[in-house]
Amino acid sequence: MAFLLNRMRRMRKDEFSRRLMREHRLSSDDLIYPMFVIEGENQRQVVPSMPGIERVSIDLLVEEAKELVELGVPMLALFPVVEGDKKSLLAEEAYNPNGLAQRAVKAVREACPDLGIMTDVALDPFTTHGQDGIIDETGYVVNDVTVDVLVKQALSHAEAGAQVVAPSDMMDGRIGAIREALEAEGYIHTRIMAYSAKYASAYYGPFRDAVGSSGNLGKGNKFNYQMDFANTDEAIREVMLDLEEGADMVMVKPGMPYLDVVRRVKHELGVPTFAYQVSGEYAMQMAAFDNGWLDKDSVMMESLLAFKRAGADGILTYFAKDAARLLLSK
Ligand code: PBG
Repeated sequence: MAFLLNRMRRMRKDEFSRRLMREHRLSSDDLIYPMFVIEGENQRQVVPSMPGIERVSIDLLVEEAKELVELGVPMLALFPVVEGDKKSLLAEEAYNPNGLAQRAVKAVREACPDLGIMTDVALDPFTTHGQDGIIDETGYVVNDVTVDVLVKQALSHAEAGAQVVAPSDMMDGRIGAIREALEAEGYIHTRIMAYSAKYASAYYGPFRDAVGSSGNLGKGNKFNYQMDFANTDEAIREVMLDLEEGADMVMVKPGMPYLDVVRRVKHELGVPTFAYQVSGEYAMQMAAFDNGWLDKDSVMMESLLAFKRAGADGILTYFAKDAARLLLSK
């Protein structure tokens, strides 16, 4: 070989040419930070299976929200952790106008009017059995009855000031029902982020510890409403339905093991597509970081960039604050 026409390493040689040919970038604009809120004042609780993540009372949540604004993170995703006496079979607490989530939304909106707040629309924090909906005598989650409650819950979030409601329950027809109710009540600007392709995943374990639903759920599972992780055509169909029913943004969840689905959704439908790097993905990486087996900053950024490469417009991640801080320091 006298000479090589194509030396791929030429462009990789220096930082300036690596920068010029870089196809994807991660910015703080891409991040959504999930947060757990509890009752009380000046309260923090660690979540053992999610090192670095705490459940905090509303006053501390507000302080953290201000930090997110400073870091340039556009939105937080709010998850209330309610006490046992607030849980019931009909999940009435879910739409209490003065409930924990509703009060937290109001407080954050007041302190940080420009920060996006996305609320979780699902009944699992409020049911005694930890399922996302209302069950019949056999334990089956009843679709249409549940949708009626989800509509009330979503309206109460919009009324409290949430700019984005995010149904994570996987009932059929809930996006359309929520959209119709929002329109009817005059909340025409409320955005819907649909957990469209939400798989029945074991990666949600640490989250269920964090919101305290794992004990209630016990050996129960969510197979008859969350998707079978063997499927991708079904994900496309779910996304199409949610869009037809009025979703503004769609989500794939979990994230890292499902980047093929993220790619299909973004490339086939070309709509605002988000992915959730869920609690189990966070926990397994943190375990390796804390053991010194992987380098936190590099692996965290590599994992988040991979979402962008797959086509995600944004990522829900428990690393949002750490990543935004790192991006600012560069
Ligand atoms: C509840 C909900 C779950 C997550 C977000 N909303 C858990 C579940 O469906 O059991 C999981 C988030 C995570 O694991 O980080 N509907």
